[in-house]
Amino acid sequence: MKDELNNLKNNALGQIIEAHDVSSLEDLRISYLGRNGKINELTKEFKNLEITERKEVGILLNDVKKTIEEAILNKLKELKVLTNKEWFDYTIPGKKIELGHIHPISYAIFDISNIFEHIGFSRVSYPEVEWDWYAFGALNFPRSHPARDDWETFFVDAKPHPKYGEMLLTPHTSSGQIREMERVKTPPIRMINIAKCYRRQSDVSHYPMFHQFEGLVVDEGINITHLKGTLDYFARSFYGPDIKTRIRPYHFQFTEPSFEVDFSCTICKGVGCKLCKEGWLEMGGAGMVHPNVMKACNIDPKKYSGFAFGWGVERVLMMKPGLNIPDLRQLYSTDIRYLKQF
Ligand code: PHE
Repeated sequence: MKDELNNLKNNALGQIIEAHDVSSLEDLRISYLGRNGKINELTKEFKNLEITERKEVGILLNDVKKTIEEAILNKLKELKVLTNKEWFDYTIPGKKIELGHIHPISYAIFDISNIFEHIGFSRVSYPEVEWDWYAFGALNFPRSHPARDDWETFFVDAKPHPKYGEMLLTPHTSSGQIREMERVKTPPIRMINIAKCYRRQSDVSHYPMFHQFEGLVVDEGINITHLKGTLDYFARSFYGPDIKTRIRPYHFQFTEPSFEVDFSCTICKGVGCKLCKEGWLEMGGAGMVHPNVMKACNIDPKKYSGFAFGWGVERVLMMKPGLNIPDLRQLYSTDIRYLKQF
């Protein structure tokens, strides 16, 4: 009986495909699914089956019936569209196709790269899946140094590289410093590396995937005033002419001295408000490139010096006055109504 059912299904489907008009389709429906149709004929034989066979055949029978019903319905829709005999109201307004929207993060990235390109930085792009050497080792992190924990890195479950160590997702764009120094070999270097970064964190101001922009300048005679000037220039270009910057001593393995960079509050202009409390907003890290980092890239720290900085794209975007983004995770919602506001 199973064979018979399968044959019946195949025959029916073949005939349904061939049907040229609604009335021959209706004939087919009656001959297969009607009261005296082929399916019901077979159902009558059902009671002659061994009990053990009944369950399996029963399922198949229902399945065949459903397949034929669906095929007839689909064909009916197809024929109706083709012959276009259905009444159609031409005055009903059409469905509006939603246009996409450039994501606010992409806007911020365009802005940031434009600003730095004006003062001679070239935008570079390096792997997001990296080796430990580029993300930590060459950046002067000893193997088991606790400072590594600050980066809450995602490691990739892959065979470590014999020379470069574990595979990981870039926890910061500083890996781009090493890649760029390795590529250029002889300074000058003036790069801006904007890329995705990954860390095990999620709250109102953190997301496991986020973006950073990393600047690196290496040349003869580069000093802190160049760094400070670059920060001021960026702050004014991105937020407006009255924004000020300040640097505070800090620690990073790969810069010496190291700083945290604050911008005067973009909302209250440095007077003090609910967001900033005392007039300053923390933007990210910076410092003078550590001699060990240069040595790891075969650049002579006696001849050259440099500065680097690394900040979050989301963070600088959220500080733009008027945007009012209370939770960074909203930026990654896929709701077009939210994104359209920008
Ligand atoms: N990579 C650092 C971070 O992710 C930021 C930084 C970049 C600090 C460059 C100094 C110099 O926190």
